[in-house]
Amino acid sequence: MPEEQERIEYLIKQKKTFSPSKGFRDNAIVRDESIYKRAKRSPEAFWESFAKELHWYRKWKRVLDWKLPHSKWFVGGKMNVSYNCIDRHIDSPRRNKAAIIWEGELGETSILTYWDLYREVNKFANVLKDLGIEKGDRVTIYLPMIPELPIAMLACARIGAPHNVVFGGFSAESLTSRINDSKSTLLITADGGYRKGSVVALKKNADEALTDTPTIRNVVVVKRVGDKESVSMKKGRDLWWHDLMKYAPPYCDPEKMDSEDLLYILYTSGTTGKPKGIVHTTGGFLTGVYATFKLVFDIREEDTYWCTADIGWVTGHSYVVYGPLANGATTLMYEGAPKYPDIGRFWSIVEKYGVTVFYTAPTAIRSYMRWGDEYLNKYNLSTLRLLGSVGEPINPEAWMWYYVNIGKKRCPIVDTWWQTETGMILITPLPGVTKLKPGSATFPFPGIDVDVVDENGKSIKEGTGYLVIKNPWPAMLRTIYGDPKRYVEEYWSRFPNMYFTGDWANKDKDGYLWILGRVDDVMNVAGHRISTMEVESALVDHHSVAEAAVIGKSDELKGQSIVAFTSLKEGIKSDSKLLDELKQHVVKKIGAIARPDSIIFTVELPKTRSGKIMRRLLRDIAEGRVLGDTTTLADPEVVKQLKDKYGHKEM
Ligand code: PRX
Repeated sequence: MPEEQERIEYLIKQKKTFSPSKGFRDNAIVRDESIYKRAKRSPEAFWESFAKELHWYRKWKRVLDWKLPHSKWFVGGKMNVSYNCIDRHIDSPRRNKAAIIWEGELGETSILTYWDLYREVNKFANVLKDLGIEKGDRVTIYLPMIPELPIAMLACARIGAPHNVVFGGFSAESLTSRINDSKSTLLITADGGYRKGSVVALKKNADEALTDTPTIRNVVVVKRVGDKESVSMKKGRDLWWHDLMKYAPPYCDPEKMDSEDLLYILYTSGTTGKPKGIVHTTGGFLTGVYATFKLVFDIREEDTYWCTADIGWVTGHSYVVYGPLANGATTLMYEGAPKYPDIGRFWSIVEKYGVTVFYTAPTAIRSYMRWGDEYLNKYNLSTLRLLGSVGEPINPEAWMWYYVNIGKKRCPIVDTWWQTETGMILITPLPGVTKLKPGSATFPFPGIDVDVVDENGKSIKEGTGYLVIKNPWPAMLRTIYGDPKRYVEEYWSRFPNMYFTGDWANKDKDGYLWILGRVDDVMNVAGHRISTMEVESALVDHHSVAEAAVIGKSDELKGQSIVAFTSLKEGIKSDSKLLDELKQHVVKKIGAIARPDSIIFTVELPKTRSGKIMRRLLRDIAEGRVLGDTTTLADPEVVKQLKDKYGHKEM
C-alpha cells in the first residue's frame, strides 16, 4: 500500500499527535486530566481508593510505611489474592462470565467461566495442601501456556504458597538454579507443550533439572501432549495432575494473608551472571495491577482482552492473570507461536473471539509489518477498540503501522513502560485523555513521580538522561529474594533517594517521555531481558573458550540481537562446527532466547589497561560505526584487526 506508506512517513515527519475520538473519550473510565492532580495531591489517598474496591478480611491501619528504600503497603491489612480474583466475582452476574478463554496451538478452545476457575483453583489448592505444601512454601511452576498455569498460580495464592514461575523456554540448568535459589519443595510441570507445531519436552528438561535440586519432594505433571512424548514418572516423586484432581475436595478456605506476605518470586536478568529473584507481595501488588489494568486498558464488563505475553514473564503475571481477573474481566490465553500454522494466526484469534483490547510487543508488530497485508486483510478486526504495546521501545514507524493497519485509525495505542521490578505499568497514556505521539510512552501513571536526571541525579528539564522514580508505588518489588544487599545496590545506590530503572530516556519540550533502552549490560532481545554476563558465563563454560564478551547489536526486527566476541584456548581451531556447538551450548545453559545471533572469533578481546573489556568498542565494531575513544586501550592492534575483519560486514 504505497499511498498509506507515504502517509505514515509524512505523519512521522510532521510529528503529528493523535487524540482519542470524542466517542472513545465520552465512554472512557477516565475522561479528563483531573485524575493526575488528585493523585499528585495525595498519592496515598489515590491508591487507597483502589484498595477499597478490593476485598479485605481486615482493613489496613496505614496505607504506606516508607523507610527508603523499603516500603510496606496497606500495613496491617489482610486479604487473599485468589479470593479477590475469583470468589469476589462468583456471587455476582460474573459467575458465568468467561474468566479465561484459552486457544491451543492446535486450534482447541477451552473456556473457563469464573465458576469453573473457582472449582479448579479450589480443587488444586487442596491438592497442594495434600502434598504437604503450607503457607510460605515456595512452588516452582514450569508449564506451557495452558489453563493449568493460572490455575496453579491462583491455587498457590489461595493457600499462601509463593509461586516461582519459570518460562517454559528456559533450559534445564536455568530451571535448576531457580528451584535452588527459591528452595522450592514442589515442581509443577507438563509432559510437554506445543511450539510452532513441535513438542517441547518439558518433563524431560525437568528430569534433567531435578538431578540437582535437593529441596524438591514432589513433581505434579499435567498431561498436555500425551502420546506425542514419552515421559518417565519417578515413583514416589512424580504424580499426574489429573489423578490428583479426581478426588480433590471442591472447596479450600483461602488463607488470610498479611498485605506484605510474599505472593511470588520471578527471576529476571540483571547486570551480573546470576538472575535476580524479584519479590512481590500481596496487597500492594494486587492494588497496583488492579488499578493500572482498569485505567490503562479502560476495561469494560463486555471486553475480550488479549495480552499475547507468556505468563512466564512479568507481563503475563500482571496483565494476563492478576490484573484482568481482579477486575472480573475476560482474559484470553494463546498457547503457541504467532506464525503457526500461518502468519494470520493472531488476527484469526482476534476475529474468532471478537477481541476488543489487544496488548502485544513491538517485535511482534514489526514482524507483522514485514509479513505484509495478505493475511491481515483476510480477517475482520472491527471489534478492536484499544491497542497496547510493551517490553521495548516502539519506533514511530511500527507505531503508525499498528495504528493504521490494526487499529484502523480508530483505536488509541497505550505504549506502556514498566519492568519485572515495578510489577505494574508506571509510564503510559490514559487512552481517553492523552494526546499520543507515535513512539512515546507519554506520561507517568497518576501518582507516580518519574524523572529524567543527569549523571549527578539533577533533574533534566528537556533532553536525555537516566530514568528514575522518586516515590514508592504499591506493586514495587520489596527486595531480591535471599539477597537484600543486592536490592539496595542495584536500585538505590546509583542516585541517592531515587529508584534507578537502568533505562535512559528523553524528555521533550512538552514533557513527553521517550524511552531509549538500557544503559547497563542488559540486552533487550525481542522484548526479552537477557544479561550479557549470563551469555558470557555460558560461553566460557565451554571447554574451548578462553574469554567472551557479549553485546546487544541494534536489530530492526528484534530491537537487539546477540553478538559474542570469543577468544579460544591455545590450539583450538575456529570453524563452523565449533560455532554451532557454542551457540548450542548457550541454548543448553540458558535457553533458546539467549542463542547468539553471531559469534566472532578473535585472538584477543579489546581491554583497557586495567583489564576491563571495552564493550562499547565492540558494539561500535558490530554496528559498523566510527570507533569511539580508544586511548585507554591496552593493545590498539586488537581493535584494528577486529575492525578490519568484521567492521563492515553484515553480522
Ligand atoms: O528497558 C525497558 C524495557 O524493558 C525493560 C524491563 O524488562 P522486563 O523486566 O523484562 O519487563 C518487560 C515488560 C514489562 C525496561 O527496563 N521496556 C519495557 N517496556 C517498555 C520498555 N522500553 C521502552 N518502552 C516500553 N514500553
